[in-house]
Amino acid sequence: MADGRARIAASILDADLGNLAYAVRRVQGAGADRVHLDVMDGHFVPNLTFGAKTIKALRRRTELPFDAHLMISEPGRYIEEYLDAGCDSITFHVEIEEPIAPTLEAIRAAGRAAGLSLRPGTPISALEPYARLLDIVMIMTVEPGFGGQSFMADVLREKARPARELFAYRAYGGEVHVDGGANRDSAEFIGGLGVDVLVVGSALFLPGRDMGREVRLIRALADEGYQYELNDGVPPIPRDRMSTFVSLPRHIAAQLRAEIEAGGIPVIMLRGGGQVNPDGVRDYDLLVPSTVEALVIERHSRARDDALREADAWRATFADGTVSGSEPATGSAAG
Ligand code: DX5
Ligand code: ZN
Repeated sequence: MADGRARIAASILDADLGNLAYAVRRVQGAGADRVHLDVMDGHFVPNLTFGAKTIKALRRRTELPFDAHLMISEPGRYIEEYLDAGCDSITFHVEIEEPIAPTLEAIRAAGRAAGLSLRPGTPISALEPYARLLDIVMIMTVEPGFGGQSFMADVLREKARPARELFAYRAYGGEVHVDGGANRDSAEFIGGLGVDVLVVGSALFLPGRDMGREVRLIRALADEGYQYELNDGVPPIPRDRMSTFVSLPRHIAAQLRAEIEAGGIPVIMLRGGGQVNPDGVRDYDLLVPSTVEALVIERHSRARDDALREADAWRATFADGTVSGSEPATGSAAG
């Protein structure tokens, strides 16, 4: 499973429809988290794609989970076929004119995730009667029917939080998906609104672009957007950045390193560019991950001050002539 928070569901609507088996293998190879399957009936939307039989045939071509997105007028009539086809989740539209709850119940009874999707003009309040039957809320940020349309930011800005609130009664779980126009330009904004799954179609199939790189880029941008939002707009600290906590003579640095590491925080000890000690060896720097620097300061600033005093006292012993060798009288220089 991918690192980070956001998941990418690859829509194969814009793949070569003559070779869908290749398309699902390709998105798997590119590192997508799921396959998003757009089913259209030429009635609910003015376009026609594939149905349950095609999905069933694709099922054995990949291990990725299948998210079916049914843009059809009568999902209730065909639901058994889509369950039988091996869909892991099935999402259909709240705007249909047939009863909705029985179909959601059938999906859940089969042990799959049940979702409702909304056209851009449909308010989230339309989902409220079904909130306790939902595992997925799919916010459409284009009019359903075609790939490659442009992203409707205002729709998501308005709906993202109320969609999340539908899951507020649960301790855990519930996914918000965004479908339509997700790409490297919109990903950061989408991630910033806490969306769990970005459905990405045409952006993965642009000629001349590497699909794997596109998946990683969109996922990373969405995660970065989320981090920025959590940090109130302050840039997130890169996970690999280290900060110098203190510089000390080697044997004292080693003791403090052991203390910090005992609390589960990794420390890198490096010979620094700082002062040269009377024994001819420069101070060592203790580097801690910047993401936990504040925690290290909270836990160990008193020990740091003690260590700095100990270092001064140790240096003074050289001036006194009490110590002649390069090793301290007490403590270990190991490390
Ligand atoms: C549109 C479909 C989308 C579409 C997304 O009706 O539901 O899943 O394929 O494609 P892009 O990413 O091109 O908007
Ligand atoms: Zn879709």
